[in-house]
This record gives sequence, C-alpha cells and structure tokens, in this order.
Amino acid sequence: MRIAMIGTGYVGLVSGACFADFGHQVCCIDKDSAKIDGLNAGRLPIWEPGLEAIVKANAERGRLTFTASLPEGVKDAEAVFIAVGTPARRGDGHADLSFVFDAVRELAKVIRPGTVVVTKSTVPVGTGDEIERILQEEGVGGVAVASNPEFLREGAAIADFKHPDRIVVGAENERAQEVLKEIYRPLFLNRAPILITGRRTAELTKYAANAFLAVKISFINEIADLCEAVDADVQDVARGIGLDNRIGPKFLHAGPGYGGSCFPKDTLALLKTADKAGVDQRIVRTTVQVNDDRKAAMVERVARAVGDLKGKRIAVLGLAFKPNTDDMRDAPSIPLINALVERGAEVSAFDPVAREQAEKVFTGIEFASDAYAAAAGADALVIVTEWDEFRALDLDKIAGSLKGKVLVDLRNVYDRVEAEQAGLVFYGVGRGKLEPA
Ligand code: UDX
Repeated sequence: MRIAMIGTGYVGLVSGACFADFGHQVCCIDKDSAKIDGLNAGRLPIWEPGLEAIVKANAERGRLTFTASLPEGVKDAEAVFIAVGTPARRGDGHADLSFVFDAVRELAKVIRPGTVVVTKSTVPVGTGDEIERILQEEGVGGVAVASNPEFLREGAAIADFKHPDRIVVGAENERAQEVLKEIYRPLFLNRAPILITGRRTAELTKYAANAFLAVKISFINEIADLCEAVDADVQDVARGIGLDNRIGPKFLHAGPGYGGSCFPKDTLALLKTADKAGVDQRIVRTTVQVNDDRKAAMVERVARAVGDLKGKRIAVLGLAFKPNTDDMRDAPSIPLINALVERGAEVSAFDPVAREQAEKVFTGIEFASDAYAAAAGADALVIVTEWDEFRALDLDKIAGSLKGKVLVDLRNVYDRVEAEQAGLVFYGVGRGKLEPA
C-alpha cells in the first residue's frame, strides 16, 4: 500500500516509520524543510526510544522517504494521513485546526479520486465533516474521509503502535474501511482488535480516552491528599483498588499532576466541544481544575520542607513531563521551577535528555551534569520526573552532597524508610502524614 503522511511530528513520524516497517511504501511530508533535510540525512527531530533504528532501516530499504513537497509526497498514494499539530488555540482552549485545513486545501489541488484521507491528529468531533466540505468546495469528488486516532504514548510510542490495545477506525465509507484494514493487517493478524465505528464516534473516542485517563490521575492525586491527612498510603490504596479488574492498575500513580502534549490540551478541547453542544462535562471540568491547582501547589510542598524559599538552593531532578522523552510541553517542572525562582530560590536542575529543550523554557537556573552534581550544596532535592536513573540513586551519596538533608519525592520513587536510613527527611506524595514524625 502506498501511504502519504502529512506532518512529521511525533504522531506522523512514528506512524509513518511503523507503517513502513509493516512493509508499506510511505512518504512523510513536512513543510519544515530543515526537518526534512535532517531526516533525509538520518537526523531525527524528536527523541523517542527505538525510532531512529526503524527510520534508518526503512529509509535504507527505500520504503520510507521524506519530502517538503506535498504534491510530490501524495503522488500515487492510496491513503493520505493527516498528522499535523492541533495545538490548543491561545486563550480559549479550542483545538486550532488551521494546520489540518491548510493541509486539506493543499491536498485538494492534487488528490485523485479513490484516495482515502485519514485524520490521525486528534481532532474534535465534526472535523471529518468539515474536511469533506472543504474537498467538495474545492471541487474534489470520490475521496473518502476517515478518522483513525492514535493512542501512542511518548517514550513508548513504537511499542504502543505495534502492540496496540485496539485500533479505532471511524469510517462509514466501505472503501475507507477496506483500505484501513489492509494498512493495519499485520496488526490484526496479531489479534489487535480493530473497531470500526462512525467517523464522529471515532473522533470523540480519542478525547474520551484521554479525558478518562486524566480523570483517573486527578482522582488518585486527590486520594493522595486525603492519605496525607488521615495517615494512609496512596500506593497501597492504588494497588488495592487497581487489582479490581473493573478499575485496573494503570494510571493510578499519584504525582505532581499530568502534563504533556495531550492530556492538558485534549481535556480543554473536549470541554469546548461539550460547551458547543450545550452539554456540561462536570467531571472533566473538575479534573482540569484539580490538575491545574495541583501543579501550582507543588511549590508549597517544597516550601513546607525547607521553610522560606528565599536564598535556598533547590536541586530538581527531571524536567521533561515524563521519562523517556525530551518533551517539555506542560511539564509539571515548569510551574514548580518558575515559582521557586520567583520566590527567591536558586535552582540547579538535571534531566538526562531534556536539557536542550529545557534551556528554551527556563531562564536563571543552573543545569547540572548529573543528579549528584545537582544535589551538591542544595537545601533540598526534588524528584519531579521518574527517570529510571533516578530510581537507584545512592541516597547516602546524595545525603552527603546535600546541605539540607531533605528529599521531596513527587513521584514516590523512594519510601520514607530508605530515605531516613540515609539520613534524609522525606516528603512523598500521599505516603502517610506529609510531615516526618
Ligand atoms: C497520552 C496517552 O497515554 C496516549 O494514549 C495519547 O495518545 C497521548 O496522551 P502521553 O502524553 O505521551 O500519552 O503520556 P502518558 O504516559 O499518558 O502520561 C501523561 C501524563 O500523565 C504525564 O505527565 C504523566 O506523568 C502523568 N501520569 C500518568 C501520572 O501522573 N500518573 C499516572 O498514573 C500516569
């Protein structure tokens, strides 16, 4: 199958590379010619475990090509995926669809009848209808429009793509259904369930999935607050409820609040869709509020641990919104570090991968070369992102480097006993009373 992928960001590049790996002939298209030049020279614009090897192998076999020219990229394609960004529009939380519609207008000039256009970007309900309308307006007939939302997580994107829990295809049109089934054939030979739905249903499914996961996180974060008040342990509560099959163990890690390129944006966009439809979504609205408040409140936890922040030196471990990515979008480290700096603290930060991205976000902080260097002379060490390499720190060595012997562990990587054994005062998240005994 010949596939064109418009947009070579996270979703586009991972999907394009994996489709090529299934044996399809894929051309990835991006307006950013510097990005395309880089890809043609084997340089990836994002950091994602395993992606480079797949891109390289398929590019060498000629199954994966890159171009900045949309007409050239979509030539002879049987399916054209749209995987451009849909950022939250400044100010109102609506998904900004201008990149999607610009791509469709450009596509309309060259697309041939019989082609299937598929949205892979997360797009609000009704976007497929609008794409159809634009194609008609541009005089294009015989082109089916389908929705095929992507559920991959950054840092685990390749595994998620190749072993999905499910594939959702929203298409009323039979040819579109057949083309998408053919594209995903290698996966359902492996028994990945493929769910064929209406197009609007598929569009909404993506938002509902992300909103539900966000609800789960905000729920456990509030339970963590309650645990601190009543001297209970949120990790045991999470285990205790998660073993119930109806609840499931995943997405029940209490922490500093969710971030990233999807949950914050998609929950807001769902609320906008609901507003437009005149149907209130109180649970999602509250979830967003709980998460915003939580991110803002994390600085208080540090202040509680070290007292007045003015003149204090705080070591921060982990800057990316989660491990195994250099993505800083909506990272909990941002409001935390900004508040620390605003309140007069000095910050020395370390992230194994995200430093380059973080340098664009923060001013007036120091970047350390590793966790121990970050801890040197600091009044407290704060773990914000649970990178694997922070899971086995030599706590005695950390305690030796720190000036103030305080560990604020916002990801519950350590427990009180081991921290105390190393002579550290421990503040976790929902692990019994916050204050040490
Ligand atoms: C998410 C969805 O998982 C994915 O299906 C969708 O396509 C895009 O959005 P991603 O944003 O890459 O993926 O990361 P994910 O691993 O889901 O984590 C999102 C945020 O939630 C992170 O900030 C993470 O730290 C936080 N989180 C996750 C928690 O705080 N607790 C948890 O238990 C799980």
